[in-house]
Amino acid sequence: MNRVLFLAAILAAAPAAVMAADARRDAIIADYAVQAGKAAPGFAGFSARRGEALFRTRWAGGDERTPSCTACHTENPRAPGRNAKTGRPIDPVAVSVNPARFTDRDEVEKQFRRDCKSVLGRACTPLEKGDYLTFMREQ
Ligand code: HEC
Repeated sequence: MNRVLFLAAILAAAPAAVMAADARRDAIIADYAVQAGKAAPGFAGFSARRGEALFRTRWAGGDERTPSCTACHTENPRAPGRNAKTGRPIDPVAVSVNPARFTDRDEVEKQFRRDCKSVLGRACTPLEKGDYLTFMREQ
């Protein structure tokens, strides 16, 4: 394939990823990276794999109705969820199906505060928050 055709093929495949990109989300993740670096000088970047583990792990120490993030956001981030405490529906959390996700800093912080306490029984660290957003950004 010549170079122009190759580029055209890449661009044809790209729009979904480009649409989901959002500078506000990137800035929130960049902020968590600064905080994670301050907390641990060995910080070497966020990991979608750790973010997925955070999402799926059944923690002890939180509210027994919500042992994991999946209790409300379901096993599949692309699927709609349901609040295990109130029964209210929750929109999907995967960025691919919900591009507005994780773009409002105050909302993101508010929910991390609330949800980490409910599931882990403590606040999430900047490393955990960045890992989680990195995972969801790829979903
Ligand atoms: C009790 C149910 C429940 C559990 C358990 C839960 N969440 Fe949520 N989460 C919500 C609700 C409700 C919202 C706000 C409504 C929305 O964003 O659709 C939300 C939104 C969020 C948001 C903000 C989304 C945005 O677009 O800004 C983040 C971040 C988040 N949750 C992270 C987590 C993490 C991490 C866990 C597991 C540690 C978790 N949630 C577990 C109910 C839950």
